[in-house]
Parts: sequence; structure tokens; C-alpha cells
Amino acid sequence: MTIQQITLTQPDDFHLHLRDGEQMQAVLPYSARQFARAIIMPNLKPPIVSTEMAAAYRQRIVSALPDDLKNSFEPLMTLYLTDNTTPGEILRAKESGIVYGIKLYPAGATTNSDAGVTDIAYCYLVLETMEKCGMPLLVHGEITDPAVDVFDREKMFIDRVLMPITQHFPGLRIVFEHITTQDAADFVTNATDNIAATITAHHLRYNRNAIFQGGIRPHYYCLPVLKRESHRKALIKAATSGNKKFFLGTDSAPHPCTLKENDCGCAGIFTAHAAIELYAEVFEQADALDKLESFASFNGADFYQLPRNSTTITLSKTQWNLPKHIDFAKDILIPLAAGETLLWKLD
Ligand code: DOR
Ligand code: ZN
Repeated sequence: MTIQQITLTQPDDFHLHLRDGEQMQAVLPYSARQFARAIIMPNLKPPIVSTEMAAAYRQRIVSALPDDLKNSFEPLMTLYLTDNTTPGEILRAKESGIVYGIKLYPAGATTNSDAGVTDIAYCYLVLETMEKCGMPLLVHGEITDPAVDVFDREKMFIDRVLMPITQHFPGLRIVFEHITTQDAADFVTNATDNIAATITAHHLRYNRNAIFQGGIRPHYYCLPVLKRESHRKALIKAATSGNKKFFLGTDSAPHPCTLKENDCGCAGIFTAHAAIELYAEVFEQADALDKLESFASFNGADFYQLPRNSTTITLSKTQWNLPKHIDFAKDILIPLAAGETLLWKLD
């Protein structure tokens, strides 16, 4: 008999873009109705570079929560690492109790990364402080060297940046965000226990053919870009392995439709409308529904040294149609799998 219902400890999203203002207001309820907590990315304009800015952003998020979700969703804030971040700022962040990670964007790697790090060597004092005080480094793992093929940027990042960092700072806690390759999955699997990774639903569901299926499809464009099928298979293996180093991070990244369907379209895929359901389908297809709870609800909390959630959610085997578009402040956005049918539904 096939399983018709699953109840899970409420999951957390360990990588989420909420944006700000009216855009945040539009997307926040989708995450808050399924996740208890989320690691909030700091790549706003201007970026969240100080504890003070993080505290103010946190307050705006909490204020934007609908009344019925006010006390059931906690934003876990992050700071945006720059060439000029100081050890003092790291200590302030740690003491605040509201900042859970420092995000490394190599300058120019992705959306709003202009203020990112131009050379990791500038950050060595900061990394040393983070290693000492136990503040995790969250990594967008792509090299920005224009001579490197876009599909090889993650692997090159491992060789040129991540390996040296782990050698210099063996105790530094690192989350290799949204991994997309077998190389990254292998690196994390073979690394020490202080190194973990998030995996998105879109990288588990699609390979790079999706971007070119019958024409150019901007709503499947994200960074790091989707990779070939052998890499997708390696990600599924990692996510469903039960290995506690791998956990859920949607990287749900909303953009107005007009900026995606554009001659220089933005990177980012919105998945918060059906995140846990999108993952559930993948786990079921891999015959690993029994591993969904550790991936979605335990491994990330354990890595971040947070208590596991005490609430639960229930998913039922119920077909439902995903919306074709979602209101996004004055625009609309096109969510992943828009208009398609999903097999699992959050009760
Ligand atoms: O696809 C992406 N979108 N990747 C990122 O790293 C950033 C994100 C965004 O903020 O839109
Ligand atoms: Zn992201």
C-alpha cells in the first residue's frame, strides 16, 4: 500500500530570500505557513552588513507576518560579508543572538553581490574570529573568473577558495549553500563534521535541459545554474542518504516576471509557494520518504545548534494545481512549476 499521508516535525528553511517592503509582504506568508524558521539572506540593496541593519530588517519581517503566523515563524538573520567587515562586527553579531551566519558572496557572482568579497584574503582576520566564536560562514560557492566556464564555477571554487579556507581554519563552521554538483556533494561528504550543505528543490528536480526545453526558459535560470543529469542524481543521493551534513535550503528567490523575461534576465527561482511539497515528491520518487524529516527538519537545526521544532506538519497525497502566477507587490512573479500538478499537499 502506498503512503497517503506523512506527518513531519515542522521543517526550517536554511536559505531564503525574502526581499523587503511590499515584495516581502507578498512572499513571506508562503514560507511562514510551512516553515518554523528560516535563514534570511542579506543581499538587499543596500546589503545587510551590520548587526544594527540585521536587527531592523528582522523587525520589518516580524511586522510583516500575517496575524495568524505572528508567533509561529522566526527569521534567523545573516550578515553580508564585505572586504571591510571587521572582527568587531562579527563579535557584535554573535552577542546579539539574532545573527546566525555570515554570508560570503564573491563580488559579481550573483544578484546583488556587487558589494561582495573581491579576495577572500581580505577576510582572514574575520574568518579567524568566526572560527573562534563559532559563527557559521555561509558560502555562495562560485568562482567569478570570467575565463572559467559558467558550469565549472562551483568546482573551481572548491579548489581555489574552499579548500584553502578549510585548511587555514579547520574549526570554522561552513555551510556550502545550494550545492549543484557531484564535486560539491563529495567534498562535503568527505569533509569534517563542521562542514555542511544546503540543497534546493529545483536542483533536485531539474537538470540544465530545463533551461532550453523547446526555447529559452528564464524561469529555470538561477545561480549556481542547473547542471547536467549526473550531478542532479548525485544531489538526490546526498539529500536522501540520511547523512546529517545535508539539509533543506530552498534558495527561493522571487523576481518580478518582467525582470526574468528580459534580455538580461535575473537569476533566481521562486519555490516558497510549494517548497515542502516539491521536496516531498523528489523523496518519494527516490523511494526515500522516510529520510525527508531528517533532511527537512533535523539536520539543519542540529548543525545550527538550534532546538528541533516541537510542532508538526502533515502532507497528504492530494493532487493540486500550482498557481500560474503570484501577486508580487505591483508586479507578478512566475513560481516554479507554474500551472503544473503536484502530488503532495500541505494540510
Ligand atoms: O539564483 C539566485 N538568486 N542565486 C543567488 O545566489 C541569488 C538569488 C537572488 O537573490 O535572486
Ligand atoms: Zn540564495
